[in-house]
Parts: sequence; structure tokens; C-alpha cells
Amino acid sequence: MTSDRDRGTFITFEGGEGAGKTTQIRLLADRLRAGGHDVVTTREPGGATGADSIRALLVSGATDKWDPLSECLLLFAARREHLVKTIWPAMEQGAIVLCDRFADSTLAYQGYGHNVPIPFIEGLYASVVGDFEPDLTLILDLEVSVGLGRAISRNTSAASNEDRFEKMDPAFHERLRAGFLEIARNSGGRCVVIDADREPDTIAADIWDRVSERLSDAGAAA
Ligand code: TYD
Repeated sequence: MTSDRDRGTFITFEGGEGAGKTTQIRLLADRLRAGGHDVVTTREPGGATGADSIRALLVSGATDKWDPLSECLLLFAARREHLVKTIWPAMEQGAIVLCDRFADSTLAYQGYGHNVPIPFIEGLYASVVGDFEPDLTLILDLEVSVGLGRAISRNTSAASNEDRFEKMDPAFHERLRAGFLEIARNSGGRCVVIDADREPDTIAADIWDRVSERLSDAGAAA
């Protein structure tokens, strides 16, 4: 079934901590805008007023502040607000929406990381999101030790308190890295794994190739 949403393109960025998603989203947005595309950049949890309030509850505080199932429910409540208030309206206008994390993060963090049953998360997805899914997901993959080192130095220098997930033990981060790779293998081509342990410009060129390929498949020349 086609809808007005199909006028837009939804591209998500995924990966563990410190994989460089923010930089890559900025570089891709600049390049797409230079080519005349209407681009909206956003992130999860967040991206709409109510979703930002939920984000504040999730990203700070003690690592065991939330039971993982409660955490899933909060994430999907935030996601629904984000879709209804930000993502779907932008797509109806024909925008390319670049989103820093989406539902694959819930599968990886809460599912593979915290052992919430995957069918529970898939059931929430079906009820809350329906059959909508990203046109392309770029998974920035990096050794856990390298990513955590980057994320910790970034948060120390920015005096950020958004470090609840980074503080989880390295075994948790290893599980979520393996989870993202499994999600990619099972995604039927929606997800592309990008080696994030390279220079930012090299990674950006790789991402550009993947995005232009998808846009030309969809009939929107990059
Ligand atoms: P953020 O500061 O955006 O982290 P990053 O820069 O690594 O993307 O914080 C978001 C945190 O929320 C991040 O640690 C991952 C976590 N998260 C989940 O656990 N599940 C989810 O579904 C989403 C969207 C994020």
C-alpha cells in the first residue's frame, strides 16, 4: 500500500557508543542539501517535544534505574511521538529524514544487551510502528574498546550527564555489537554494515555510495 509518506526517504544510523554517527549524519546532510534535497535530521530517543521529555528520563542516572521491559515501553512511547509529530509529517513533504538511532537500537540494547525477548520488541514494533520501516539503515561498526574510549572522552570534555548506557559493562557492549551484526544479517538488505574504524572522510564516501545507490533505486537522483 502506498501513502504520502512514500514521497520521503527514511535513513537510520545505528551502532554502539562512539561510532561517529553524529559526524556522519552532519556530513551526509550537508552533501544532500548541497544537491538540492530537503533534509531533516533527528535522533532517538527524542526528536519531538514529548519524546525529548522521555529521553531525559532514559539517558541519565544509575544503570539499573529502569527495568528493561519498562525501558522498552518508554522507548516505544517516545518513538510513537517522534513518528507522528516529526518523521511522518516530514516524509509526507518529500523530505529525506536522517535519524540517529531507531528501533534497531531497541533490539540491540534492550534485546541483545538486556535480554528482553526479541518477540516482545517485535510485537511492540508491529503495534506502534506498523509496517513502516527505514528505507536504509547504516550500522557503524567498531571495536567496543575503541568506541567506548571515544564516547567517554567526548562526554568528559562536554561535561554531559547522558552517560547511563556508556557506563554499562563491556560485556553488555560486546552483546550489542554482535546484536547489530545479527540484525544486519537478518534484515533482507535493509541494513548495511559500515567499518567505522577509518578516517571520517573515508567513511563518509562509503556512506555516500550506499545512499546514492538507494536514492537512485527509489527514483530520487542523489
Ligand atoms: P545518545 O547520547 O544519543 O547516544 P549515542 O551518541 O551513542 O547515540 O544516547 C542514546 C542512548 O540511548 C544510547 O546509549 C543508546 C540508548 N538507546 C537504547 O538503549 N535503546 C533505543 O531504542 C534507543 C533509540 C537508544
